[in-house]
Amino acid sequence: MKNKRLILTGLIIFFAIVTVPLWYNLFSGKKPAAPELEYTAKAKAAKVCVEPTAFMKVNHMELLYMWRESVVRKGERTYVNSNGKKFNMSLTNTCLDCHSNKDKFCDRCHEYSSVRPYCWDCHNVKEKE
Ligand code: HEC
Ligand code: HEC
Ligand code: HEC
Repeated sequence: MKNKRLILTGLIIFFAIVTVPLWYNLFSGKKPAAPELEYTAKAKAAKVCVEPTAFMKVNHMELLYMWRESVVRKGERTYVNSNGKKFNMSLTNTCLDCHSNKDKFCDRCHEYSSVRPYCWDCHNVKEKE
């Protein structure tokens, strides 16, 4: 019985400690700083993404799923964007061509949002710039 109580107390303390940042943000009324995204020279030169930034921010995963579907199921590899510009539908050769600093771009944002895309189990991450 005594053990049970100890474990429970331990759990409560543990929970309180791991959620400190959460409480801190709640009571200080501050939001954690948004992740700072870095752009490669190549991305800067291109100026625009595959689709408008506001769209990419919210829908890049759907776009990627659509690309995968198109390549894997239909064998169609050319994507024509809303401006009529053509892209090779490839995670590694297109997205990571411009955003080759995956750790300071994709990963930074995903860590911030606690998302862990499993794509990199199979898809190559290019050498850094
Ligand atoms: C189990 C291994 C595996 C995982 C995990 C995986 N893929 Fe793929 N993916 C493939 C294979 C194999 C192809 C076909 C490659 C080809 O034909 O070029 C492919 C093709 C694609 C393509 C089109 C071709 C290309 O070069 O990119 C996209 C886009 C894509 N996957 C996106 C994703 C995304 C997004 C994720 C994570 C949410 C993901 N994949 C996870 C194996 C995987
Ligand atoms: C031709 C170069 C290029 C390619 C290819 C490219 N991007 Fe981008 N991406 C950019 C640029 C430049 C911006 C920032 C545009 C701006 O400043 O408004 C951007 C912005 C983004 C953003 C929004 C970031 C934010 O500000 O919140 C996301 C998400 C993104 N890209 C993901 C992707 C994904 C996923 C792919 C592949 C499907 C991809 N990009 C392909 C150049 C590229
Ligand atoms: C502006 C922040 C931001 C940037 C930059 C960003 N992502 Fe994301 N990404 C997210 C968020 C948030 C989610 C989760 C969205 C959801 O679950 O609805 C996500 C989800 C994803 C998913 C789906 C994961 C899953 O498990 O279903 C993939 C694939 C993905 N991102 C790929 C990329 C790639 C590749 C890049 C870099 C080229 C990138 N993202 C850059 C914010 C970002």
